[in-house]
Amino acid sequence: MYKILITSGPTREYLDPVRFLTNGSSGQMGAALAYSAIEFGCEVTVVTGPVKISYPKQAQVIKVETTQQMLDACLKQFPLCDCVIGAAAPCDYKPVRYSSSKLSKTGKTLKMEFLPTPDILASLGAIKTPDQTIIGFALETDNGLAHAQEKLRRKNCDLICLNAPSAINSQENSITLISESGVVAQLSGSKKDLATKIIRYALELEKNI
Ligand code: C5P
Repeated sequence: MYKILITSGPTREYLDPVRFLTNGSSGQMGAALAYSAIEFGCEVTVVTGPVKISYPKQAQVIKVETTQQMLDACLKQFPLCDCVIGAAAPCDYKPVRYSSSKLSKTGKTLKMEFLPTPDILASLGAIKTPDQTIIGFALETDNGLAHAQEKLRRKNCDLICLNAPSAINSQENSITLISESGVVAQLSGSKKDLATKIIRYALELEKNI
């Protein structure tokens, strides 16, 4: 059975026990991909940050909070899978210092330093075998095509789904599918319709359809 790993939702990076950095990712695209992959008869594992959305009951769902936890879970699951689709929006930075007690209000400017978090898809791209497929997303405001192709190469992806900020928290989306050789397709519609088309591309890449 074709096994797909999907990363979904945001991650959190804690400043103190009650405050964290995050973003507005809802997990809708990840969930739509998981439902479509199940409909195609795939075995699905979702590694998800904190979201309200529910995933298919047939999927194995691994809940994480931080980018490092998402990476650790993916490093365990990826060798067991044929394909990974990176639909998550992991935090790119975390505070250099975590305060184990709640930071108190001083009324003064608060300066904080941040460290980059690991890139999950790039880490999986580095250990990918020739039989495995990696599909990433790129949300860009300018020079989308060039940036998406740079990400495709740097993260060793087979396909990148280029979309715009309007994708966040929306049920609809427009995607440009990009491979090493350029634009493969222009897709728009509900995230569910797009998910079906993306899974179809993943299966075609593996000649499983
Ligand atoms: O944030 P960026 O535009 O680089 O995201 C592009 C792709 O990389 C997305 O598929 C996203 O899920 C993935 N990504 C990741 N780990 C990160 C940041 C992004 O896997 N730390």
